[in-house]
Amino acid sequence: MTLVATPRPADDIAEILVNAEDIGAKVREMGARIAADYAGRDLVLVSILKGALPFLADLMRATQIPLALDFLEVSSYGTGTESSGVVRILKDLAQPIAGRDVLVVEDILDTGQTLNYVIDHLHAQRPASVRLCVLLDKPTRRVVPVEIDYRGFEIPDKFVVGYGLDYAERYRNLPFVGVLKSEVYARPS
Ligand code: PRP
Repeated sequence: MTLVATPRPADDIAEILVNAEDIGAKVREMGARIAADYAGRDLVLVSILKGALPFLADLMRATQIPLALDFLEVSSYGTGTESSGVVRILKDLAQPIAGRDVLVVEDILDTGQTLNYVIDHLHAQRPASVRLCVLLDKPTRRVVPVEIDYRGFEIPDKFVVGYGLDYAERYRNLPFVGVLKSEVYARPS
């Protein structure tokens, strides 16, 4: 029998930008700050599918106060590496947020178009507050200004994958944030 090695997602990575240990330490620090800031409040973590899932899962366990979760699904990128600039709500919140303290938990802030739209959408539902927590910030790409209340890492303008971020729906399960080898883009999908 011929053994063929299964390719691993990590084999396609040219450079690790943020390793798993640094992500873990930062997420614990952010969770402790959020827990202190929202103690005694009616906190709802609103996350945007799908990229924010690993960050949300780790952040909520680092935030040891009572909280609720809700989800939005929006479309902004398509399957390429460039933002289309068009934001659509594909799935809305399941529970009302009126009078509650909303913290949006997002994996990456790039042009700001998605978060700008989402934050306006949430404010329209009359929550007590809306604040933003992002793991990765690419400030050089910003088109629309967005205020960040909790920021994990500032990163350069490179297309990144891993820890929730995808290229054509792949690489979300990498435990770190990295840059793909350029040859990956040339492959037929
Ligand atoms: C990513 C990310 C943000 C958005 C940021 O999501 O999760 O929602 O792009 O880009 P912007 O600041 O330029 O608006 P994506 O559309 O790739 O969907 P996904 O989370 O399902 O991967």
